[in-house]
Amino acid sequence: MPLIYIWISIIVIVLKYKVVSLAPPMKATLKYLAGLAGPSGYGSKTTAEQIAQDCFSSMPTSHLTAIVTGATSGIGAETARVLAKRGVRIIIPARDMRKAEKVKKNIQNEIPEAEIIILEIDLSSFASIQRFCSDFLSLGLPLHILINNAGKYSQKLEFSEDKIELTFATNYVEMLLEKMVETASESCIEGRIVNVSSVIHTWVTTKTFSFTKLLNPKRYNGTRAYAQSKLANILHAKELARQLKARKANVTINAVHPGIGAATTCYVAISPQVAGMSGKYFADCNESRCSALANEENEAHKLWKQTRALIHRRMLPPVGKNVEASATS
Ligand SMILES: NC(=O)c1ccc[n+]([C@@H]2O[C@H](COP(=O)([O-])OP(=O)(O)OC[C@H]3O[C@@H](n4cnc5c(N)ncnc54)[C@H](OP(=O)(O)O)[C@@H]3O)[C@@H](O)[C@H]2O)c1
Repeated sequence: MPLIYIWISIIVIVLKYKVVSLAPPMKATLKYLAGLAGPSGYGSKTTAEQIAQDCFSSMPTSHLTAIVTGATSGIGAETARVLAKRGVRIIIPARDMRKAEKVKKNIQNEIPEAEIIILEIDLSSFASIQRFCSDFLSLGLPLHILINNAGKYSQKLEFSEDKIELTFATNYVEMLLEKMVETASESCIEGRIVNVSSVIHTWVTTKTFSFTKLLNPKRYNGTRAYAQSKLANILHAKELARQLKARKANVTINAVHPGIGAATTCYVAISPQVAGMSGKYFADCNESRCSALANEENEAHKLWKQTRALIHRRMLPPVGKNVEASATS
């Protein structure tokens, strides 16, 4: 056996032993580096393919429909591919239709029977989200899974067409909730919403988190804006989870830190282990701890109320009777 493998084996064994007695953040880091499995049986080395194979081996999935935002590249494209491989019908909302067509072609080269529908959206625009919702609803399809994966990082201060700071306008979105509730009630299949957040949300402090500053920051910092939008993704999941529970809706919503792959997103979207779990935060395919601020119920409710008020002020009259859309910032 080459020496390097012996050293790696020793390090892994030492880490396994050490992890038992370390403080939680250090423990999490070491677990991540060593790729150790958590209580779910999965860890940082688990792939989305593995999750999908485990979850779908025992249940038919050809009747499921999922929307995956930001599927024209990165984690979203991999999420779409893996779910499509298991027979899930995938809707790709995209602002760049050429990129979306390319992703669709790649998936169908690998999985000729994959059903992929591309619809146009610019997530930073209220009007565009409304049009997308209208287009989707007019297809008459159910909606079982919604993965809010699209994300933007903006180095310099930019504003959306609705005059909202662009990172926040793009990354913080809510749409098609009533459609999900309706599908879940008709199909008796638990609807799942996944907000793709980031561990960077832990950088945000209570002092710097203000709705007005999110919309229109005075002293802009790209990393701070991105971290705040990711915190908003978790707060949104927590508040909506509370509301869905109160309505007894068969829809859950959770937030994830995806790391560098699609495994955690897929785990939360389809694993039977996550059934009934809502308002939680996951990393490396396991429930994880988010920041104290992300756990503040009052903060989550305040953000939701401020968002609603903003939407009422800004939203255009509905395009069609059944159209439901709401974006945020
Ligand atoms: N990668 C990581 O290490 C990491 C770590 C933590 C969290 N995350 C989170 O994971 C998610 C995916 O990350 P990624 O690295 O895979 O991102 P990525 O490769 O940069 O992809 C971002 C996706 O979002 C789409 N998007 C951006 N703005 C949009 C808009 N206005 N309307 C519609 N779509 C828009 C992009 O579309 P275009 O193709 O048109 O640009 C693209 O499909 C993000 O939410 C990110 O914050 C990633």
